[in-house]
Amino acid sequence: MTKIIAPSILSADFSKLGEEIKAVEDAGAGWIHLDVMDGHFVSNLTMGPALAKSVRPVTKLPFDAHLMVEQPIEFVEAFAKAGVNYISIHCESERPNETIMAIREFGAKPGIVVNPPTKVEEAFPFLDKVDYVLVMTVNPGFSGQKLIEEAAAKVDVLKDYREKNKLKYFIEVDGGVNLETIGRVKNADVFVAASAIFGTDDYAKAISGLKALL
Ligand code: DX5
Ligand code: ZN
Repeated sequence: MTKIIAPSILSADFSKLGEEIKAVEDAGAGWIHLDVMDGHFVSNLTMGPALAKSVRPVTKLPFDAHLMVEQPIEFVEAFAKAGVNYISIHCESERPNETIMAIREFGAKPGIVVNPPTKVEEAFPFLDKVDYVLVMTVNPGFSGQKLIEEAAAKVDVLKDYREKNKLKYFIEVDGGVNLETIGRVKNADVFVAASAIFGTDDYAKAISGLKALL
């Protein structure tokens, strides 16, 4: 699969969110990443299905919702109905197997997420049931943090595991991805970046700079 840059709108200017999404689409983004936080699973509050629904008409790009919530199953239907195409849930959250099935039932593609302190092996039982695996390279909650090297190494483990087991999932990486660090996680397929894109004043330059290093 071709490499995809997925800007996280967590660092966008919320006063003009529709324009920000159009701008990253024009700048070469492949997906739009939505960081959903409930104030319990992580200590921050961000966006819900109503926001996804209201910006859905702005772009044809796939929406990728990353659910950092304790009970993701409660929100699957609303996000799928809002037009979210990919929904990832943490293996550290509650009822992951049931939630993966629910995501498929509502017509979206499921992903499993692994936090930095969690062993990559914890994701293995899910890998034949999901479309993708998301490797967190920061502890979730906030954008603008530094990539954790030991977590980045999971990308290579997951690539080898995919080959050995003839599986098809793709690998997404999220947290601290920027021009200095993207080379270390280049075996991933989808690269989430918030501050490295929305923190600049030239989104096209930021996205093409990241792509050039892959
Ligand atoms: C962290 C979120 C990330 C974050 C990335 O909890 O899951 O998507 O916004 O931000 P940067 O790219 O600035 O590290
Ligand atoms: Zn994320």
